[in-house]
Amino acid sequence: MSAQYDDIGEKVADWDVLPVRSEFIEGHTFFKALGSVREQDVLDVACGDGLYTRQLKLRGARRVVGVDISEEMIRGARRQEAEHPLGIEYHVSDAAALAPLGDFDCVTAIYLLHYAESPEHLRRMCRNIHDHLRPGGRFVTYAFNPEFSAKGPNSTKYGITMLDYPAAPREGQAISAVLHTKSPFTIHFSHWSQATYEQALREAGFKTLTWSRPEASPEGLLARGQAFWQDYLDNPHAVALRCER
Ligand SMILES: C[S@@+](CC[C@H](N)C(=O)[O-])C[C@H]1O[C@@H](n2cnc3c(N)ncnc32)[C@H](O)[C@@H]1O
Repeated sequence: MSAQYDDIGEKVADWDVLPVRSEFIEGHTFFKALGSVREQDVLDVACGDGLYTRQLKLRGARRVVGVDISEEMIRGARRQEAEHPLGIEYHVSDAAALAPLGDFDCVTAIYLLHYAESPEHLRRMCRNIHDHLRPGGRFVTYAFNPEFSAKGPNSTKYGITMLDYPAAPREGQAISAVLHTKSPFTIHFSHWSQATYEQALREAGFKTLTWSRPEASPEGLLARGQAFWQDYLDNPHAVALRCER
């Protein structure tokens, strides 16, 4: 399941323009949960082609390292680093099998944990992330919403469609979703409940876990109006989670 992004390749090139992925919702919610990274060392796991990794650096982070399991995604991230150097390092690795990369003030992971293939895989990801943090550090992640409802509005008009979403998904059940980029593609991941995520994170050593639902930024409200975002806010496809070490 994790190597699927090698095949997706360049199809992610315009995914930042999807309403669901824009700064109006996802960026705003994620960076609000994260707080300032100025002068901090940040490890961005599941960095993909570096969309957020670059933003972390541009927001004043000191050392920024991106890691992804997909060689294709890291190739894209390195290409952008070569074209517009920001001083970001990129590595190919499964988050569950990370070699030590140093100590960080903060680990981020935008869309990682639902790619865990088993509770043990999830536990290893969480342990590795925890072990890369300095005391007092934080892990801030964005993941598919374990409480997404098949009865609620789907997110198609925002750029993503959950396919045949089960009424009551089982632990580990395979879920698929289509991203409506110029060349649409389907992604596959696993359903894990909030309790399963929390257990893995607490076992890894995280003390305080704070979930937050997406919210529209003032700019997003100005640009599209509350009515445009309401269906999404009522049944968001993803949520943010901040974990303190
Ligand atoms: C939806 S993409 C998000 C990329 C980037 N964080 C962003 O928001 O643009 C999910 C990424 O997770 C990576 N991934 C999936 N399983 C992983 C794992 N076990 N370890 C590291 N990366 C993984 C995929 O290769 C893919 O690049």
